[in-house]
Amino acid sequence: MNPLKLAHSVHKGLTNPNSQRVFELHGEYKRQYPSSMREEWKRVRRSWFGKRNPLPKGVLWEPHCHTTCSDGELEPGELVDLMFESGIEACSITDHGNQRAWNLLREGRWDKDGNYPLNERTRRGVEYDIILDTNGKCLTVYEPGGRSLFIPRSIEYMTEDGELCFHGVSEDFPVSSERMPLRGAIQAVKDLGGFAVINHVLLWEGIAWRRGEKAVEEAVEAGALGIEVNGAECWPQYHSSVAARHFARRYDLALIATGDAHKDYMFGRSGVAFPEDTFFEQIGNKTPPPEVMQEHLERGAYTTYLNYLNPFEFLEFFGFGISQQE
Ligand SMILES: [Fe+2]
Repeated sequence: MNPLKLAHSVHKGLTNPNSQRVFELHGEYKRQYPSSMREEWKRVRRSWFGKRNPLPKGVLWEPHCHTTCSDGELEPGELVDLMFESGIEACSITDHGNQRAWNLLREGRWDKDGNYPLNERTRRGVEYDIILDTNGKCLTVYEPGGRSLFIPRSIEYMTEDGELCFHGVSEDFPVSSERMPLRGAIQAVKDLGGFAVINHVLLWEGIAWRRGEKAVEEAVEAGALGIEVNGAECWPQYHSSVAARHFARRYDLALIATGDAHKDYMFGRSGVAFPEDTFFEQIGNKTPPPEVMQEHLERGAYTTYLNYLNPFEFLEFFGFGISQQE
């Protein structure tokens, strides 16, 4: 379908009267249902007036963010500090087309060039311990006193049809100058024991922008687990979030809120919360953290929090801000 037609049908309030899907609900942790453009606009507008949805209780996961290893602002080591300062317990570093930040942290390095030892540069003045899971899917960073941060081995990958996030792969996802087809890339992630999430579905780098709903169908058939509503898809792009909510319902995909964080003010603003009891019970049973996340996402045992950028942040992020011109 023509992407503009698809966008228009979303604006008109696309619905699927044939959907008989029953969602498994777990108390307050449940999938969030689709909304109309009008409802999404209310969410966008709230952010314009500085209103923030509070962080939910639970294990917080930052599912989509970038470091200096692609187009993000923070060094990998700064990101670790910020996650501990924000009380976030799981963070997927999803740089574009590389897993360098994850590999540098694994070696205990602080910056994108590996120049500084992490523990010499941390602004928190603590000694982190970094442990790699035996299956290679996740790093666990411990701070003295017992708090920990899970960092699944993740990547944001551009397929022939658009971008996806991959999480919890057991070895680096193979990246070459040639893009993989959508189906082949998702299969490769599954072969490496990870899971795939469809990113910003109706933006210019999203899979439905070029190929319409067919691409979403194909990703679902190949085994994509989730689809994101992206807090940077602010006005005038929020039709993409509405489309994601509809696709989540139609194809029974986990709906995952992300901040697509590039700048420091974008981290921790949107994400996913898992219930602490079942999450840590499974961690205690030695299930690798990315598999615990996957299992919770599959059965809808999570909640999301979404806070859009305000107009100043939006302009700054997209390169029109005052700080960019200094
Ligand atoms: Fe991204």
